[in-house]
Amino acid sequence: MAAKQLLDLQFQHNRQTQHNWERSRVHREAIHDHLVRYGNAALLRAYGAGNCNDLDLMELSKHFTAIELVDIDTKAMESALIRQNVNTDDGVRILGDIDLLSSAHVPSQPADVTVSSCLFTQLLEQFIEDNAATADLISEFRRQHLNMLISGTSSQGHVYFITDLVSDLTAPQLKQLPNDQLNGFLSNLIERRNFFSGTNPFAILKQLESDSRVQSTNLLDAWKWTLGPRTFAVYGIHAQLDTN
Ligand SMILES: C[S@@+](CC[C@H](N)C(=O)[O-])C[C@H]1O[C@@H](n2cnc3c(N)ncnc32)[C@H](O)[C@@H]1O
Repeated sequence: MAAKQLLDLQFQHNRQTQHNWERSRVHREAIHDHLVRYGNAALLRAYGAGNCNDLDLMELSKHFTAIELVDIDTKAMESALIRQNVNTDDGVRILGDIDLLSSAHVPSQPADVTVSSCLFTQLLEQFIEDNAATADLISEFRRQHLNMLISGTSSQGHVYFITDLVSDLTAPQLKQLPNDQLNGFLSNLIERRNFFSGTNPFAILKQLESDSRVQSTNLLDAWKWTLGPRTFAVYGIHAQLDTN
C-alpha cells in the first residue's frame, strides 16, 4: 500500500472515531494533567491533533493564551472545534493540510509547550511504506520528529512525546489489565520486543538525553486508550528544554 493510501485510510479512521470523546476520557485527562503541570503559558502547540478527542480545548484555553492545532486533516480539526464549542475567540487556531511526514514544519513562533500525541506511529507507518525499515533509518526518522518538536519550542519550554506503544491485537490481556499492573506488563512486552516499531521508550529517552537542547527528561506512567474497537497502551516522555 502506498503512503498516500495509508493517509486516505487515516482520514476514514478519523471520521469513524470522531465521536470517541467519552471513550477517550482517561486518555484525555492523563494528557491534560501533564500539559498544565507547569502552570499557565502563552502557547500550546499540538501535533497530530486530528479529532482532538485527547484535548479538552475549553479547559486548556484556561491555561494557555493560544492553542495551535496542527494536522493534515483539516476537516477533523474543524469538526472538533464545533463539537467542543470553541473557536478563535478562545485562542484556538487550526493549521490544517500540513503533512508532518518529513518533520519539516517550521512554526511562526516558538511554543511554551509542544505535544505530539499518538501521531508518530502513523507517520512511521507511512515512512516504512516507502523505505526499508532498518533500525538506523527508524532511529533517524524519529530523531527528525523529535527535532521538529524541540526546534519549535522556546528555551526552558516543555516537549511531550506521547505515543501508543502496543495494542490488544498483539497483547490481548491489555483490555482487562488493571491500571496498576500496566507499567510492569509493558516492561515485559518491551523485553519481549512486542511493541510498535520505533516506540521503545528507552531508545527515545537516550535520543532525547543526547540532545544538548534538552535539560532533563522523564518517562511518564502509561495509561490505556480505547479507540474504536481497540485498546492501546499509551505512554509519554516529558523533556524540559535548557536555556538557549
Ligand atoms: C491516532 S490519530 C490522533 C488523533 C488525536 N490526537 C485524537 O486523539 O483525537 C493520528 C493523527 O495523525 C494525523 N496524521 C497522520 N498522518 C499524518 C501526516 N502525514 N501529517 C500530518 N498529520 C498526520 C491524522 O490525521 C490523525 O489526526
